[in-house]
Amino acid sequence: MSAVGGTAVNSLFFRPVAVEPGMVLLTQGTGGVSCLAIQLASAIGATVISTSSEDSKLEITKKLGATYVINYRNHGDWAAEVLRLTDGKGVDHVVEVGGMGTIEQSIRSTKQGELISLVGFLASSEATDIFPSLMYGGKTSRSH
Ligand SMILES: NC(=O)c1ccc[n+]([C@@H]2O[C@H](COP(=O)([O-])OP(=O)(O)OC[C@H]3O[C@@H](n4cnc5c(N)ncnc54)[C@H](OP(=O)(O)O)[C@@H]3O)[C@@H](O)[C@H]2O)c1
Repeated sequence: MSAVGGTAVNSLFFRPVAVEPGMVLLTQGTGGVSCLAIQLASAIGATVISTSSEDSKLEITKKLGATYVINYRNHGDWAAEVLRLTDGKGVDHVVEVGGMGTIEQSIRSTKQGELISLVGFLASSEATDIFPSLMYGGKTSRSH
């Protein structure tokens, strides 16, 4: 299996928490890891929220299985959109491919106590202090 395939499978289905039917997953952008994660998670009955910089790509992620889509260019505060779509609860699992540029909003998008899989570093940013939101949210980040 390619690095992309192995990474998507590993982040979704292996320790510490496997994605299961009924869970809500957040994916970022339309790269290889995210597109495969959308397909695998939706195939087992999870709800997927996918983001992209382009509406035309979001039409494709819907075809791949995403239930909800967010254009992260139009919604700079996309975490607020994630919280709106999940009735303020947040998602069970984030496949985090942006790194420094997305991690703060990924943490905010995640339910108390749930999981962020650290996969990539596509988005640069100013330094962000994520310690309080990780600690007080009881959230787990796992590197892949
Ligand atoms: N740890 C591992 O085992 C492993 C394995 C494979 C890959 N990776 C890493 O994981 C990351 C993803 O890999 P990939 O192969 O899927 O990458 P890719 O195919 O190059 O992904 C490119 C896409 O990422 C999206 N993106 C860029 N900046 C973004 C941002 N700020 N917010 C949301 N989406 C953004 C864009 O989607 P839109 O055009 O839709 O906006 C872009 O088209 C990379 O950093 C790669 O190095 C890690």
